[in-house]
Amino acid sequence: MNIPEHVAIILDGNGRWAKSKGMPRTYGHTMGAKNVEEICRSAWEKGIKYLTVYAFSTENWSRPQEEVGAIMDLLRNYLKTCKKTAEKNHMRVRVIGDKTRLDPDIQAAIAELEEFSRDFDGLSFQIALNYGSRDEIRRAVDSVLREIKSGVLPEDTEITEEFISSHLDTAGIPDPDLLIRTSGEERLSNFLLWQCAYTEFYFTDVHWPAFSEEELMRAVEDYSSRQRRYGKTGEQVL
Ligand code: IPE
Ligand code: IPE
Ligand code: MG
Repeated sequence: MNIPEHVAIILDGNGRWAKSKGMPRTYGHTMGAKNVEEICRSAWEKGIKYLTVYAFSTENWSRPQEEVGAIMDLLRNYLKTCKKTAEKNHMRVRVIGDKTRLDPDIQAAIAELEEFSRDFDGLSFQIALNYGSRDEIRRAVDSVLREIKSGVLPEDTEITEEFISSHLDTAGIPDPDLLIRTSGEERLSNFLLWQCAYTEFYFTDVHWPAFSEEELMRAVEDYSSRQRRYGKTGEQVL
């Protein structure tokens, strides 16, 4: 089977899953966070090297304040669990997105986790927090302009695609081979617009907290069965 090197997942449907069980939305977020742990383990066991999850978007701040607060509290707890998992499984964790809008204690926990896990050679796990692809591109353009203005970069710097990629939050991480979105929606919701130029998409009606290892394998098998005339680097594969 052709196992994708990098799988990206839009974690959707926590609220609907909880509602279907007669529970509050926050219960869905709690169980969704638990499931992230499970899927990290499964992904690595199946030979996936990079996993990127969309956990909180730049647009998600507009949800009711109580829900945003509950998600942030959950994140605080999750980051602690994640450090233990990183240590146990040698997982390297990185956060993509604009971290500066997160509370200072969360920013500190992220910095600690990233530093702690930076040399681990297990699963490379990216969490998108306060992430929006347009915002990421805007920040990349802004940082290049600053580097040119301050003389760090020469004025005649050639702007190549590689140059742009290297200024995104995902610098150094290969583009996703497979993107999964759970819970029946079929849109990107501002996720990895640049990086998904050649990515295969897979949509499932299963809500995120119920997305199991079997569901992951179903997505991987579907991906593996797709025929690509050209690989992502342009080489002919058929
Ligand atoms: C995904 O589940 C988690 C986040 C976006 C934080 P939702 O909260 O979007 O769940 P639904 O889509 O309302 O069911
Ligand atoms: C997308 O889910 C963002 C995340 C999973 C973090 P949403 O549920 O927020 O997206 P929309 O609003 O349905 O597009
Ligand atoms: Mg949703």
